[in-house]
Amino acid sequence: MTSTYGPATPFVHLFLRAAWQRTGPGLVQVLADSPPGRVLDLGSGTGAALPWIAAAAPGRDLLAVEPEEGLRAVLLALVAGDDGLRPRVTVLDGTFPRDPLPTDLAAVVVGNALGHFDPAQRDEFWRQCAQVLPAGGRVLVDVAAHEDPSPSPEAPGAVPVQVGRRRYEAWATCDVTGLQTVRWRMRYQVLEPTTGADGGDRVIEERVASYDWWVVGPRRVRTEAAAHGLVPAAPAAPEGCLLLEKGRRARR
Ligand SMILES: C[S@@+](CC[C@H](N)C(=O)[O-])C[C@H]1O[C@@H](n2cnc3c(N)ncnc32)[C@H](O)[C@@H]1O
Repeated sequence: MTSTYGPATPFVHLFLRAAWQRTGPGLVQVLADSPPGRVLDLGSGTGAALPWIAAAAPGRDLLAVEPEEGLRAVLLALVAGDDGLRPRVTVLDGTFPRDPLPTDLAAVVVGNALGHFDPAQRDEFWRQCAQVLPAGGRVLVDVAAHEDPSPSPEAPGAVPVQVGRRRYEAWATCDVTGLQTVRWRMRYQVLEPTTGADGGDRVIEERVASYDWWVVGPRRVRTEAAAHGLVPAAPAAPEGCLLLEKGRRARR
């Protein structure tokens, strides 16, 4: 697969780890009473959500699927380096829908990744979720705050992260490229304090990554998923996410 995140690869984990520290605690309710079976983290990236998924689904095996080699290397290192995750998490190279969903799942998590799927891929995703999940099986997906794309001037794209003497910043801007699409431009900066009298910061490195994104708001997700018998579930989803459940009359 060609790399979407290419230049951003070294920094992706810093910011997603910080983001999941805010969102992750909300996963407990979402996964706790889902039926028995494996939990899939589709588009797992560097695995920033995995410690939270593992804590929310104790005793379950997890599957982390990630197509980008650079991100998957971080993911594999994260899993291998964690005594709690290593025996439970299987890491796979996979691209949906070229690689279909496994059939023994109880829940699927798509975090910060639904916008990579075009409408036909989303339809296939809902169809396969309805096919492989048992009744009551859960699907947690990220959703856009708005139903329609709008341009956004450059603004902080994440909370800055300090590592040693260096501070890592992410700046995001997007242009509307279609009725449902935007192109994100992410600018990453590495800064270090100067030793001079001005006491300012020096930019050590700057990288830019751009990628296309389908804007999918909660109304569209509910409508698309309902066509396959996936309906909103009762537990409150973490902010920016929507939780769906396979209803009893969903197609198999
Ligand atoms: C912004 S990252 C989010 C990573 C992770 N889910 C998280 O929240 O920390 C989006 C991820 O989706 C993956 N991705 C993009 N298209 C995909 C596809 N067709 N199938 C599976 N994963 C995909 C990317 O490689 C990337 O790792």
